Amino acid sequence: MIDQLTIEKILDAANIVDVVSEFVTLRRRGVNYVGLCPFHNEKTPSFYVSPSKGICKCFSCGKGGNVIHFLMEHEQMSYWDAAKWLARKYGIPYSERELTDSEKALQNERESLFITNQFALDFFKDALLNTEKGRAIGLAYFRKRGFRDDILEKFHLGYCPDEPDALARAALAKGYSKENLIKTGLCYERENDHQLRDRFHGRVIFPVHSISGKVVAFGGRIMNSDAKVAKYVNSPESVIYSKSRELYGLWQAKQAIVRKDRCFLVEGYADVISMFQSGVENVVASSGTSLTPGQIRLIHRFTNNITVLYDGDKAGIKASLRGIDMLLAEGMNVKVLLLPDGEDPDSFAQGRGATAFQQYIDTHQVDFIKFKVNLLMEDAQDDPYSRSELIKSITQSISVIQDPIVRSVYITECSQIMKIDERLLINDVNRRQREQTQATAQPRQQQDTPETDLKSQEPDTPEQTVSTDEKATQPLLSPEDKLRQDIRALKREGLGPMMDKERLLSQLIVRYGGKVMCTFQNEEGQEQDMTVGQFIVGSLQNDGIEFRHPVYKRFVELMAEHLDGKDFNTEKFFMSHPETFVSLTAASLMEERYQLSKLFKDNMPTDDEAHLLKLTRHIMADYQMEVVRLEIKKTEKEIQEASSGAGTLASLQTHYQQLLQARSELSKILGDRVITL
Ligand code: CTP
Ligand code: MN
Repeated sequence: MIDQLTIEKILDAANIVDVVSEFVTLRRRGVNYVGLCPFHNEKTPSFYVSPSKGICKCFSCGKGGNVIHFLMEHEQMSYWDAAKWLARKYGIPYSERELTDSEKALQNERESLFITNQFALDFFKDALLNTEKGRAIGLAYFRKRGFRDDILEKFHLGYCPDEPDALARAALAKGYSKENLIKTGLCYERENDHQLRDRFHGRVIFPVHSISGKVVAFGGRIMNSDAKVAKYVNSPESVIYSKSRELYGLWQAKQAIVRKDRCFLVEGYADVISMFQSGVENVVASSGTSLTPGQIRLIHRFTNNITVLYDGDKAGIKASLRGIDMLLAEGMNVKVLLLPDGEDPDSFAQGRGATAFQQYIDTHQVDFIKFKVNLLMEDAQDDPYSRSELIKSITQSISVIQDPIVRSVYITECSQIMKIDERLLINDVNRRQREQTQATAQPRQQQDTPETDLKSQEPDTPEQTVSTDEKATQPLLSPEDKLRQDIRALKREGLGPMMDKERLLSQLIVRYGGKVMCTFQNEEGQEQDMTVGQFIVGSLQNDGIEFRHPVYKRFVELMAEHLDGKDFNTEKFFMSHPETFVSLTAASLMEERYQLSKLFKDNMPTDDEAHLLKLTRHIMADYQMEVVRLEIKKTEKEIQEASSGAGTLASLQTHYQQLLQARSELSKILGDRVITL
């Protein structure tokens, strides 16, 4: 890792216009530059680059940040790789920081699991191609299914010998540890004698690759049709494998997905392989489970367009409709391709070449919403009840679409197909949108808060909890998903307005944290400077309050650690901070300068101490007012509930009086100006 000072140097040297121009054609507009946003499809430019602030932002999809964030998103690099890329470009020497012991341990653990999996992969491939049984059983099976040799190699297919512990013995002999064989799930320990057993023995092997091509898991298929054992056995979740965050085939498909600007989504291993073999290479599988938001975001990195393939099974289709609403909500254009009765993608692809398949796709793929209307219409012909269910279900799908133009086109089309008054649909869609906004504070509706739009982490970063027990597989949340979830929960608790004020204070910290706003007399009677950061941190400590929003809270913590730094440059510090949450949020706070000056209509010269003092005190008081307001509400409720317990009641009432007192003092500071943001 690179230390933060070097990152600051890199950010100083990097010219954001220069860097973005390598990927996006920019035109000058005033002091800024604009171009077509590289992160979503658009026809009119809404991607702005501000060379003076060193940030970029799309005003349509909300993506952006400083030059490191741009590279992370655009090139799918990690924070450190993006920083190094810039260091090389601008000739800034850097040395990498030593990892801490716990970082090292985690990295070592992940590394050794990858190495163990790689050994197993080679072992399985070798068993398939170079052993007598492997060829007679495994290879014969793949041949029977029509998989060509080049495809076996492309997907690293293999075979695990039908002995209890062939892999375990080979691995132990080569020095791989028992512990890692168990952690990867390749082997498990037999209960009675603690002997290692191969999880996949007697099965053909489908390795699962991460987006960067590392082997994270395996699927093993049984070859006879023995109904008593599961057809597929899969690796359990581990430090390197979270099922809900991988897509089978993505590593092999990603280039074709970009080239074709479309991704086909199927269910199984065999579907992916057969389609790939027939020439449709932009295909991935969710491996038999319903799509997760993490998987959708993986696809979304490469394209906006997705086609979901269905075989004729109507129950299966209906079950998956909800998952597709998630795709719409993520802003994807969704099409559906229904295969002829009795065919699945595997059998269908095996039957024809690329051209025939492509032709079928071109003539049969239909828009998802229209597909859904037609599908549900079949059931709802004359039955008023199912007709109203149909309308509900369709307006639900339409209401999650973020683009208003697309929404209105769908409303018109659906009203025609369903023969329903358009206004009725519009009303229902609007109502649902309002409900969604209130209930969950949908990420897309506040595009200017970056913490709701953080880059998905590389799947290969050390961030997940260990869970080797197959049964104990709770869904693993990525840090940014977890953060989003936490913030949503806080909003549901009614803390939205409070967090808005925390945001303003954070903005003060980022922009002016190190600036002097007044002087005061310290205990020895000397004049001393007070910075904005000192004031905010000090006030919070005095009141014993912590911020509720996890990222803003982090700002305060970091500020508190740097209160004594002379001329501490908070902008640089926060913008270059290696915790992506912090730097990305800082970048967004930088561009919202207007929110601060909105409070004071006269254009505020922000370096002016007097103004800074006024502004900071005002925003702090405004925040404290919100804290008091909530506390008053809570106390009123407690007083109501406190039955006859006279003691508690009395102390509650004292507390209540104090709060009212605080409120009136704060309103004096705030004046009668009501701040609405
Ligand atoms: N699956 C699984 N465990 C099972 C059945 C299915 O994990 N017992 C997953 C596999 O990822 C599989 C996918 O669900 O690829 C779809 O299931 P299915 O359609 O039965 O598998 P196919 O890939 O079509 O397998 P095959 O053609 O070999 O039967
Ligand atoms: Mn199949």
